[in-house]
Parts: sequence; structure tokens; C-alpha cells
Amino acid sequence: MANETITIVDNRTNQSYTLPIYHGTIRAMDLRQIKTGPDDFGLMTYDPAYMNTAACHSAVTYLDGDRGILRYRGYPIEQLAEHCTFLEVAYLLLYGELPNAVDLDCWSQEIMAHSLTHESVKKFMEGFNYDAHPMGILISTVAALSTFYSESRNVHDPKIRRKQIVRLIGKMPTLAAYAYRHRLGLPYVAPDPDLGYAKNYMNMLWKRLEPKYVANPVLAHALDVLFILHADHEQNCSTSTMRAVGSSNADPYSTTAAAIAALSGPLHGGANEEVLRMLAEIGSKDQIPGFIQQVKTGHRKLMGFGHRVYKNYDPRARIIKRVAEEVFEVTGRNPKIDTAIELERIALSDDYFISRKLYPNVDFYSGIIYEAMGFTPDQFTVLFGIPRTVGWLAQWQEMMEDPERKIARPRQVYTGEDKRDVVPIELRVPKTPLVLA
Ligand code: SDX
Repeated sequence: MANETITIVDNRTNQSYTLPIYHGTIRAMDLRQIKTGPDDFGLMTYDPAYMNTAACHSAVTYLDGDRGILRYRGYPIEQLAEHCTFLEVAYLLLYGELPNAVDLDCWSQEIMAHSLTHESVKKFMEGFNYDAHPMGILISTVAALSTFYSESRNVHDPKIRRKQIVRLIGKMPTLAAYAYRHRLGLPYVAPDPDLGYAKNYMNMLWKRLEPKYVANPVLAHALDVLFILHADHEQNCSTSTMRAVGSSNADPYSTTAAAIAALSGPLHGGANEEVLRMLAEIGSKDQIPGFIQQVKTGHRKLMGFGHRVYKNYDPRARIIKRVAEEVFEVTGRNPKIDTAIELERIALSDDYFISRKLYPNVDFYSGIIYEAMGFTPDQFTVLFGIPRTVGWLAQWQEMMEDPERKIARPRQVYTGEDKRDVVPIELRVPKTPLVLA
């Protein structure tokens, strides 16, 4: 488009500035030339929570929040969920193209070959209380992996980066399964590389004394689809954390542990666990109007609803609703789905939600499936973190290869005290009595 520029007139100085517009943005650094005098630092943008700030270029995932569009490397999520496996999509996110059959077979074998962990991992797994939250275990054990692979600090070596990427994707389900078995006091089950990614995870979770675990194919497929839906979502909170921590050249294990910590928050990946608690608290459909009223008066949030980007139906939630019906054919219907559907129906006809463009997001229905499959609520965010590891690593890899890459270091608007001198302690009079907890 011609004349992709913007002209700003600084009314303080009557100076005008013409700045280039770049992919619908202006470079924040172009604002620094706008000064009131030679000693002025120049203009910055103020954007808490980065509501309107693009922090990077990325070619991995495309979202259109108004139209409810999600594409990985240009492919619509609906087609990937329908036609691909999770490891196929993992390859796509990391390398930009879907693999052919030979490449997929090599890739799958490579990932499964790295599903084993160092035996010492079991020793520090034992250090956790039996009721330790699995997200706390995952954060800690993923960070600890950095101590087993000191080469991983060579983050500028593409071959070394790729090796850690494969290790992390291969080991994440094993760590998650160990945390689950530790909780139940059950012996750990070794990975079975003959099984696929999702079936092996089910094997490590649920194998008992049978010689070889046989996963229900419908449940295994459902888990694989859910992994695809959770694999990446552009610059969400945990991915932004991955980029920020990775920008200091920290190793990918420590960096991924930071991303898992961000995901654990109830406003982010922790929401799926909160949705189940909310549905359990609501109980029956007749309690829904009272709960909605609490939400509308600001006393509660409708967990699993709303999104920073989607101001339309989250396309993943639509697919998850369909997967739920397939799972219930095997597990029996989880009655919470009927409460959830009625909750959605009422919310989507209420102006509080309509005016704020609040729709179900990926977390609204996923936990209902997980519970029907036999997962406990504290495992739900782990089920988010396993596939999202691929997205975090694809974004980290993209950042490490970005020629514009620099350490992330935002500025601030200082609102504190002006310069003042220290007063001798005997002369200090507290302004307000300090109440120490
Ligand atoms: C994920 O970013 C990603 O891509 C994340 C994710 C991914 O794949 O990585 O999609 C995964 O994290 C999904 C979101 C899961 N979280 C939840 O379901 C928690 C409940 N939702 C919210 O807390 C909230 O909607 C957020 C955190 C998701 C988004 O918050 P925003 O963009 O900061 O919006 P906001 O808090 O400014 O809300 C705008 C208005 C407010 O009302 P007013 O102050 O204008 O009166 O909408 C209201 C909010 O109170 N609102 C809600 C609500 N979410 C927003 N009111 C009730 N219930 C809610 N869930």
C-alpha cells in the first residue's frame, strides 16, 4: 500500500514526525526521536500486560481473534486435528512443513528414543510429598534436566539446540507420568517406544501388571487431538515467558521450566482445573442463574470463558466439544458436560458476556474430557503443558534464529520518590505505623 507512514505532531513543540508503518505497527524506537529538548529521553509507549504491543516477528502460528481463526504454519487447526497426529504437527511447528511418511517415521522414532530419563530423576521425584501438585513437580524436574545436559548451555549451536528439543518433547510425558505414579504410590512404568506418543503416555500412567499395555484407540486418538489443539498459540503468557527467559541465552530446560510456571497460573493454563472445580461447585443446572449473577456482580469469574485475543468462539473449544462426545461413547457421559453446555447457552445469551465478547476458550470443555478419561483435576494443566512444550520450543528456536534478537528488557514509568537523603535512624519518624505480618 502506498505511503505506509504516519505523521505525528508534537503539540508541545509543534514539531511533526513522519514514521514508517510496518505490518500494521510502528517501531517503538522510532518514537524516541520525539523530544521536547536535547536532554529529553524521548517518547516511549506505555503498555502494561502488552495489550497492544507486538514483541516479535513470528511465522509459527496465526490467530484472528475476531473471526476465531487459528492456523499452525498456515494450516487451519480444524484440518490438522482431523488429518494429522500430534508428532506430525510437532514436526510442522518446529520445521515449518508437514513431514512425508519417511520423515515422520524417523522423527517419531527419534522422539520416542528420548522418552527415557536419567534414573536420578526418580530419586528427586521421591523427594516430593505424595500430594505435591504435579505442576510443581514438572517445573522442578524440567529445570533439573539442565543439570544432566550441560551441553544445552551452548544455545547458539543449532545441532545442540535440536538435540535438547527432541529430548524435551520425548521426556515431558515421562516426567508427567512419573509425577502421577508418585502421587498414587505406584511403581514407575518405563516408556514403551513401540507405542505412539499418546498411547505411551497412557501406558506410563495406567499400566498395571499386564505384560503389555493396550490403550483404548478412541481415547488415545482423543488425547492426540487434544495435544494438537494445545500445541501452540502464538505469544500467550507462557510463550512470552519462554521468549523472555530464552533471550538471556539461558538453557532450554531452565527456559521451559519458566514457561511451565507461567502456564500453571489459573488465568492461563491452570484454568482447565478451575473449570472443573467451578462446575462441581455449581452442581446442577438450577444453580447456574445464581452463579451467573455472582459473575455479573464481579464476585466470580466464569472460568474457561474469555480470551485476550479471541473475541469470538475459540475454534479449539468447538473441536473439543466434538471430541468429548467421542470419548463419552467409551467412558460414559460426564454429567458435567450438560452443566457446561447449559452454562454456555445462558452466558452467550446474556448481555454481560455478549458486550464483553466473552466466549468459551480452550479450557472450558477440556477438563470434562480429561475427567471422563480418568485424569484427576490437578493433572489437567500438565496435559496442557506436555503438548505446549512443542510450541514453546518452536517459538524459542525461532527467537534464537531471529537476527533482531536481543535480551528482553522493558522500560518503566517511574512513579516513586524523587531524590532524597538518608536520615540517621535516631531521627527517623515513621510516617505511618508499619504493621509487620
Ligand atoms: C488460556 O493467550 C492465550 O492464547 C492463552 C491460551 C493459550 O492457548 O495459550 O489461549 C490459553 O490461557 C485461555 C484462557 C484461560 N483462562 C481462563 O479461562 C480464566 C478466565 N478468563 C479470564 O480471566 C480472562 O478472560 C482472560 C485472563 C483469559 C483474559 O483477560 P483479559 O484479556 O485481560 O480481559 P479482562 O480481564 O480485561 O476482561 C475484560 C472484561 C472485564 O470486565 P470489565 O472490567 O470491563 O467490567 O471482561 C471481564 C472482565 O471482568 N471478564 C470476565 C471474564 N473474563 C473477562 N468476567 C467474567 N468471567 C471471565 N472469565
